[in-house]
Amino acid sequence: MFNKPISFKAAQFTESVIREMTRLAMEHNAINLSQGFPDFAAPEILKKAAAEAIFADVNQYAITWGAKSFRDALVYKTKKFLGIEVDPEREITVSCGSTEAMIDVLLAVINPGDEVIVFEPFYENYGPDAIISGATPRYVQLRRPDWSFDENELAAAFNNNTKAIIINTPNNPTGKVFSRDELQIIADLCQKWDVLAITDEIYEHIIYDSAKHVSPITLDGMRERTIVVNGMSKTYSVTGWRVGYILAPPGITGAIRKMHDFVTVGAPAPLQEAGAIALRLPDTYYADLAAHYQQRRD
Ligand SMILES: Cc1ncc(COP(=O)(O)O)c(C=O)c1O
Repeated sequence: MFNKPISFKAAQFTESVIREMTRLAMEHNAINLSQGFPDFAAPEILKKAAAEAIFADVNQYAITWGAKSFRDALVYKTKKFLGIEVDPEREITVSCGSTEAMIDVLLAVINPGDEVIVFEPFYENYGPDAIISGATPRYVQLRRPDWSFDENELAAAFNNNTKAIIINTPNNPTGKVFSRDELQIIADLCQKWDVLAITDEIYEHIIYDSAKHVSPITLDGMRERTIVVNGMSKTYSVTGWRVGYILAPPGITGAIRKMHDFVTVGAPAPLQEAGAIALRLPDTYYADLAAHYQQRRD
C-alpha cells in the first residue's frame, strides 16, 4: 500500500459540490437547480457548423492559443459589445472553457505571498483556484438586499500584497449585476494599489429587466490592468463544448499562453470553427436569448 500523503493542495478542497449535486440529481431523478446548463437545444447553425468542421477534417490540434478564425471572431465580438479593439495575435488566449481560463490566469500572475480579493458569496471554483495557484484569498462580503459591498470594507482589503481582484458580473450565485459606480470604486482601488482586475463575464448576455452589463475593461485606465475571462458555454448554450477565452494585455497573455499550453495544449479545434460562426450571430440572437431566459424566470 502507498503510504505517503497526496498533494497538500489537493487535500485542501473537496470535489465540486455543484457537479456532485448534478450526479446525485441524475441518480435520483431530481430537479437539478445546482449546475448552470441549458435544458434546451443549442442553435441549429452551431451544431451544423461543428459537424461540418469535423467532416472537413478539422480534427487535429488547433493553434495552442486559439484557432485564427475564432480569435478573429473574438476581435469582432469584443469590438461590438465592449467597444474595444483587441489584438488577436497578442491579447487573446482560447481555453477549454472559462474554468480553464481562470486557473491559467491565476497560475500566470500569482507568486507566493500574493493576495487575491474575492467577493463572497462566490462561484465555487475560485476557492480551489486560489489554493492551486498559491494565492491567499481575501474575502469581501456582498450584502443583501442588492448584494452591494461596503466601500470601506473593500478599501481595507487592498494592500501592497494584493495582486488581483476577481469580479464576476453578472454574478453567480447572487445574480447581481455590478453597476458602473460600483465598478468605478473597484477600478480606482485597482489603480491606486496597482492591482489586476480578473473579470468573469460568462453571463454577460443572460441579463434580466433593465440591468446593463458593464465590463470593467471599458472603464478609464482599466484596459491595461483587466483580464477578461469568458466563454461560449452559457451564451451559446454549449456548456459541454468546453470553449472559453481570455483577453489580457500582451505581457500577461504571454504567461497565460504558457500555462494554457502545458495544461491542455488547446481547446477543441472543430468547436472553435463553430464558435467563429457563433460569435458573428446577429444582435437578435442575444436579444432572443435574454428574452427566453426572462420568460422562463417569470
Ligand atoms: C460564474 C461562472 N464562471 C464560470 C463557469 C464555468 O464556465 P465554463 O463552462 O466556460 O467553464 C460557470 C459555470 O457555471 C459560472 O457560473
